[in-house]
Amino acid sequence: MFQDLKEKWKVDWRQFTLIICTFIFGGSFCGYVGRKILAAFAVENGFGRIGLYVLIVCLIWPFSVLLISIAFGQFSFFKDYIQRIMRIFSKTPKKHIAIFASGTGSNARKILEHFTDHSSVSIALIVSNKATAGVLQIATEYQIPTLIIERERFFRGDTYLQDLRSAQIDFIVLAGFLWKIPTALIEAYPNKIVNIHPALLPKYGGKGMYGQLVHESVIEAKEKESGITIHYVDDKYDHGSILFQARCPVLETDTPDILAQKIHKLEHQHFSTVIEKLLAEK
Ligand code: GRF
Repeated sequence: MFQDLKEKWKVDWRQFTLIICTFIFGGSFCGYVGRKILAAFAVENGFGRIGLYVLIVCLIWPFSVLLISIAFGQFSFFKDYIQRIMRIFSKTPKKHIAIFASGTGSNARKILEHFTDHSSVSIALIVSNKATAGVLQIATEYQIPTLIIERERFFRGDTYLQDLRSAQIDFIVLAGFLWKIPTALIEAYPNKIVNIHPALLPKYGGKGMYGQLVHESVIEAKEKESGITIHYVDDKYDHGSILFQARCPVLETDTPDILAQKIHKLEHQHFSTVIEKLLAEK
């Protein structure tokens, strides 16, 4: 059971222990304050008292746990946790993401893992321009609907807007999608399309800069570091405003393959959480 919870919360054992301590101390503190309030108002024993106690405890529990979480260094976890609970009660509809990918889809897999059973986000569609792309196999595994797109209709037709609308897509994530996004789609999803690039933009971006070529260029230029960039998509390749970057060293002994592995590790570590934070702010 603990292992399941730890995986669900995506934390290590140390943080898991601190979270459990916060629940225990926060809950006890909440009970204590609840009893004090009842005593202060001299509520008589009986069902009314029990009902009132439960009501008070439910109302002050979030504040109590948040307060105690500061002492255990877990404020940001509990802030998100309580927001998630509130969303369940407020019945806010989930945000629907479409992932556009043309490659093996390791980033898409990580994003799918991350948002499985998520309270406010669901991956509703996988879009690819390649019928043989590995990402489509992953979509089948996760039972996510797929859409194979054709160049002519994407660039000169309706850009598949109708399909995206019928799947109620709110947000688009490009995870290894090589085609440029048509202006009509950018206008339909303003600041709602993000891309991940395997280098520190603005360097090593632009038309044709993808895959191994990026890493070869970084190594050739004898850069001391590289990294990943997550950015909004505009009508130029790898150009929209930067939302997040993470770095890794480039060693003299690094080959493009070794660097690609380092970059993938960073992508898998950060992409889903950046998307989650961005959606929480929208
Ligand atoms: C990633 O390196 C990403 O930065 C780039 O395309 C690659 C996709 O990799 N845009 P994968 O298919 O997710 O493994």
